[in-house]
Amino acid sequence: MPVIPKILVFAGSVRSGAFSGRTADVAQRELAMQGAEVTRISLGDYPLPIMDEDLEKEEGIPQNAMRLGRLIAGHDGLLIATPEYNGSIPPLLKNSVDWVSRIRRDGSRSLRPFPGKPAGLCSSSDGKFAGIRCINHLRAVLVRCQVEVVTPECSVSGASDAFDQDGHFRDDRLRQSMERLCRTLIETSRMLSSRIEA
Ligand SMILES: Cc1cc2nc3c(=O)[nH]c(=O)nc-3n(C[C@H](O)[C@H](O)[C@H](O)COP(=O)(O)O)c2cc1C
Repeated sequence: MPVIPKILVFAGSVRSGAFSGRTADVAQRELAMQGAEVTRISLGDYPLPIMDEDLEKEEGIPQNAMRLGRLIAGHDGLLIATPEYNGSIPPLLKNSVDWVSRIRRDGSRSLRPFPGKPAGLCSSSDGKFAGIRCINHLRAVLVRCQVEVVTPECSVSGASDAFDQDGHFRDDRLRQSMERLCRTLIETSRMLSSRIEA
């Protein structure tokens, strides 16, 4: 059982100044403060074609999906901060999840990045609903991929006014919900530690 769990943090948007990116920043700081070893990535560094089974058959899993899959496998837990598009998961995030869900092997060894991997979820929106429709869809999709999604979550409404100038949440309840989410994710990641060292 590792004393220090490794947590991979990323947002479902690569937009500059993205609310989900700023929410991921808060999560990253909170996880580190609670003692996790945090890796932060941008999905922009893992560009992928739209999922296409013909392409998969002809060319196999794209290298960037394999890189992302290995990285996920090399961590004890995931923290995903998502925006909401039309009440659901933005295509960048869904497409990344879909490709990684197809990985079964890495050369001669078996590799399944998602099954048994703990994850914590955040959502954000400038509207009142804080992306909660998306977070519910994302939870269902990840559970389908056998990810162990923890129950606490952190959803940021009115996102354009939710952060102070240092990037912290202005609202105490939001700070508490992030703290609880990170605590549960760290505990679950310790308990289920499943990382595969590269
Ligand atoms: C295609 C599209 C659909 C959207 N649908 C929703 C929505 O259903 N609910 C919502 O709160 N915001 C919606 N928005 C607004 C996004 O929440 C907003 O652009 C947000 O800033 C995107 O997240 P980001 O800041 O993390 O990039 C939508 C934006 C786009 C581009």
